[in-house]
Amino acid sequence: MSGIEQARKAAEGLAHSSGFGNEHSSEAVPGALPHGRNSPQRAPVGLYAEQLSGSAFTEPRAHNRRSWLYRIRPSAAHPPFARTDNGDVRSAPFTETVPDPNRLRWNPLPEPAPGTDFLAGLWTVGGNGDVTQRTGMAIHLYHANASMTDRVFSDADGELLIVPERGGLLLRTEFGLLRCEPGHIALIPRGVRFRVELLDETARGYVCENYGQPFQLPDLGPIGANGLANARDFLAPVAAYEDVEGPVEVVNKFCGNLWAATYDHSPLDVVAWHGNHVPYVYDLRRFNVIGSISYDHPDPSIFTVLTSPSDTPGLAGVDFVVFAPRWLVGEDTFRPPYFHRNVMSEYMGLIEGAYDAKAEGFVPGGGSLHNMMSAHGPDRETFDRASAAELKPQKIDDGLAFMFETRWPVTATEQAATSDHLQAAYDDVWQGLQRHFGS
Ligand SMILES: [Fe+2]
Repeated sequence: MSGIEQARKAAEGLAHSSGFGNEHSSEAVPGALPHGRNSPQRAPVGLYAEQLSGSAFTEPRAHNRRSWLYRIRPSAAHPPFARTDNGDVRSAPFTETVPDPNRLRWNPLPEPAPGTDFLAGLWTVGGNGDVTQRTGMAIHLYHANASMTDRVFSDADGELLIVPERGGLLLRTEFGLLRCEPGHIALIPRGVRFRVELLDETARGYVCENYGQPFQLPDLGPIGANGLANARDFLAPVAAYEDVEGPVEVVNKFCGNLWAATYDHSPLDVVAWHGNHVPYVYDLRRFNVIGSISYDHPDPSIFTVLTSPSDTPGLAGVDFVVFAPRWLVGEDTFRPPYFHRNVMSEYMGLIEGAYDAKAEGFVPGGGSLHNMMSAHGPDRETFDRASAAELKPQKIDDGLAFMFETRWPVTATEQAATSDHLQAAYDDVWQGLQRHFGS
């Protein structure tokens, strides 16, 4: 079997544990999970007990995150890490360019060189904050045409929100296997080791690396107890382990640099686990879209799937927002996203189809950056069409766009600011908006 066939077979019929932020538990071998305590004198079936803390021990219960892992060897049994090539990965603070108030838009990355895996194919667009302060975020793209083999990755700098645009991914994590297809997202918590195998010939997509507080579901306020992304639609894996003796390269992203060590065994050797610091997949088409049934439309925060809060209530370090299929019914309303300037900075990507504020040029795999206070909104063609449209109920169902919206301006990397796929004439989409005043 080819690697892709093997990965597809492994991805078939995966079992899951449902829910977001709750205490999950799973064992791949009956009796491997201790009962009544976390760290018995001798853990069952000859395993080592190990805690993975995603929050400080003493954070309030609602924010406290940790998992207990029962593994063949403890993570501590490893050789020294040594610096390895960062490739196209960059981290905060982003100082290669000055922050740019201009609106920027990119075409998709070109095809990767043969043999490029997910990690080698990571390409940083930009970001903000400081990895050593655990604040801010980075925006990465990935393009790959090979599975990771004999190596795994973990990110001490933040959690990874993976948004595939092309090609399915099989994520082999310490907690088990997850399948993530275009239209799904995957969330890999800080420090969790994983390997990405391809389910198709090529894979392409986006990654939000969140240095700040872990993503959580937004509060719902007057919406009530249900709606937006429902917790039960998030799927954690069930325990699945590798019992592999032999060299495995473990790459660790730490304070902005990649470090590697060659273990003599696979660290994906967790036979049982329990806790709430776990990876997830979520199907964005499950998002319960809420909008106006009278006039105007709510601010796009109504489309928030996950939010990373800051120390200021309501001010996100980064929000992940999806523009999913929905009905527009507003009366006497300009229905596309309105013109605006925003103190938050907005990076948008497109998973499939088209986005209702842009008639052309914003393509799947591409992206746009509207930094703090930059003026943006519908392009001229969209404005003209929407201003004259007959306002009957309209289904927006031909696209799946998303936004990483962050509290601080995004500074582009040198490679993003100078790349061939940066569109030179993005401003032109707002040219030709005629004056109507007094006419
Ligand atoms: Fe915007």
